[in-house]
Amino acid sequence: MRLILLGAPGAGKGTQAQFICERFKIPQISTGDMLRAAVKEGSELGLKVKEIMTSGGLVSDDIIIALVKERIAQKDCENGFLFDGFPRTIPQADAMKEAGVKLDHVLEIAVADEEIVKRLAGRRVHPGSGRVYHVEYNPPKEDAKDDVTGEALIQRDDDRESTVRNRLAVYHEQTAPLVDYYQSWAEQDPATAPAYHRVEGVGSVDDITRQVIDALET
Ligand code: AP5
Ligand code: ZN
Repeated sequence: MRLILLGAPGAGKGTQAQFICERFKIPQISTGDMLRAAVKEGSELGLKVKEIMTSGGLVSDDIIIALVKERIAQKDCENGFLFDGFPRTIPQADAMKEAGVKLDHVLEIAVADEEIVKRLAGRRVHPGSGRVYHVEYNPPKEDAKDDVTGEALIQRDDDRESTVRNRLAVYHEQTAPLVDYYQSWAEQDPATAPAYHRVEGVGSVDDITRQVIDALET
């Protein structure tokens, strides 16, 4: 299965990706996680993207498209993959079309902006694995520690409220048009387009996982 998780920052893409990838045995390709790993390593790519990520802007399409093409050529992607946070602009989506990357599903997780600000303020992450928690809505078993490794959880640099507002503005301007892009494609040419599903992303994590799995299995 090859699918795209589409949704605003904080909609729950990373949270749901964990369950979907386990269920369908496919790798999670999170461009955000890949870029954060590069920043942490201090690689050439990391140095190039650090500032833009901290401000909540988007990294250039050229960089992202090259990164994704290289990643999906790897062996573990042979039986499918899940895109989390990609494509995020029309040129990124077009690049996949032009490269002949056939996708089965686009799954939109819809959450209102006010809810997102609350979610991101309380988010904590395990930097090694990308596992996601929330101090109130999805707390770790032990305070501030990852459930699997016991290592310390951190807060992301771009989760400050002013940056979150900028990320939301960028989302509405550059990424939200992809909703229409994939919906119109599915209506006009269902034979080649990925199937489009929309799930309301408000409710318990388990409840949303059930709706997501249902949508993908029918
Ligand atoms: P990226 O890492 O992709 O961030 P994002 O899209 O802003 O999404 P988030 O990771 O913030 O949210 P999420 O939907 O995964 O939510 P989560 O599951 O964590 O990108 C970061 C940056 O990298 C970008 O700003 C850009 O600079 C760059 N970048 C990345 N990809 C790029 C691309 N393709 N092109 C250009 N630039 C790119 O959940 C959020 C919180 O809510 C958590 O605390 C979670 O526990 C909680 N939560 C989840 N579900 C629920 C629920 N049902 N109820 C209550 N709380 C919940
Ligand atoms: Zn994420």
